[in-house]
Amino acid sequence: MTLILRGRVVHTPKNPFREIRALQAFPDGGLAIAEGRIAAVGSFAEVARQFPGARVQDCREGILLPGLVDTHVHYPQTRVIGAMGYSLLDWLEKRTLPLEAQLADNKLARELAREFVKLLLRNGTTTALVFGSHFQGATANLFGAAEDAGLRIIAGQVCSDRLLLPQLHTTPEQSYAEQKMLIQRFHGRDKLRYAVTPRFALSASEAMLEVCQTLLQEHPDLHFTTHLNENTEEIRTVAELFPWSKNYLQTYDRFGLVGQRSVFAHNVHPTEPELLRLAEARAAVAHCPSSNAFIGSGIFPMHRHLRFGVRFALGSDVGGGTGFSLLKEGLTAYIAQRYAQDGVNLTPAHLLYLATQAGAEILGLGEEVGSFAPGKAADVIWVKPEEGSTLEVHFRHLDSVEQLLGSLFTLHGEAKVHKVWLEGREAPLD
Ligand code: GUN
Ligand code: ZN
Repeated sequence: MTLILRGRVVHTPKNPFREIRALQAFPDGGLAIAEGRIAAVGSFAEVARQFPGARVQDCREGILLPGLVDTHVHYPQTRVIGAMGYSLLDWLEKRTLPLEAQLADNKLARELAREFVKLLLRNGTTTALVFGSHFQGATANLFGAAEDAGLRIIAGQVCSDRLLLPQLHTTPEQSYAEQKMLIQRFHGRDKLRYAVTPRFALSASEAMLEVCQTLLQEHPDLHFTTHLNENTEEIRTVAELFPWSKNYLQTYDRFGLVGQRSVFAHNVHPTEPELLRLAEARAAVAHCPSSNAFIGSGIFPMHRHLRFGVRFALGSDVGGGTGFSLLKEGLTAYIAQRYAQDGVNLTPAHLLYLATQAGAEILGLGEEVGSFAPGKAADVIWVKPEEGSTLEVHFRHLDSVEQLLGSLFTLHGEAKVHKVWLEGREAPLD
């Protein structure tokens, strides 16, 4: 049975950094869903004509968007959010790593996994590239919770063998064996995929990076994710640990870890050779604006990424970031670019693109999610303004959907994700 969602429909099937009119908006739109897929998108009148027997759900209060895509978020860090006054390395040491060590307790890990998945959905995120736990059991719990909720995730067990807390260290041999089991159990199971995930070069020996390389060679369809060029002190330490490397990216590149399925979080302080190499390899960057501001890492050089043709999309980086909302990340990216000397003048279309289709593409899911193009999975969110809020006033008085989208990002705190459909099926949010 076909379902038509009727309401303001907006998406970015095209890239607004390259094309004008990339935003497609229907003030009285229709979104037809059949067998979990988008069957049609257009004006309601047109879509209703195409599917005369369809059931119609009235979503005219609010706005319908594609499910949001978070390209960088840490499952063990929900409860770290809000740790103020630190820079990266002491934030890790004092607040984050001790909490991550608690995930050795499988019962706690299970609770955190369920909490995490629910929070993603409540914030409208339907696809995510997730940093797992250092522990195999806890990472298995994450996959289990995502599968139960129908959430599409790419994730992996984090591997480190130095300079963190001893409880978080493993050996290359043990990491290989544990990851191999997780890959066999979860990679490719329904909507789950596996990403090889060294925490960062600072905490990975060359032998550990070799294990990452071996896993990727043995399973060429795996993803890869890690951190890169986030903080100047981190960058200096990495340079000391890898005296042969000309730059941070080379510490990964030497081991074959820079490719089109690789996503590097942050890249706030890249050199030109690194941007060239990322573009050449079609590797991508997860841009995490609220984290960059909150941990004081710096302002993302978006203009340089665009100039070199390096792909990027938004990440919340919970718990370095300030929450799970990608609408808020969009606003924070916008504000940061206003502050930057060489800032990009972003529009609502850019923000929506960076929170949806751009993320889908860098995760290799550009044909599956990210927009309402017919044939894609029907991952849809219905966002409504809170009653009596400023955003509600905007919804009543602005008639251009593009303007409204600008209000939605700006007043994100008053926007409530009312319903989420995953492959056409409504997901429980409480
Ligand atoms: N670098 C290494 N680990 C982390 C982490 O957990 N968060 C951030 N923002 N950067 C990191
Ligand atoms: Zn991170």
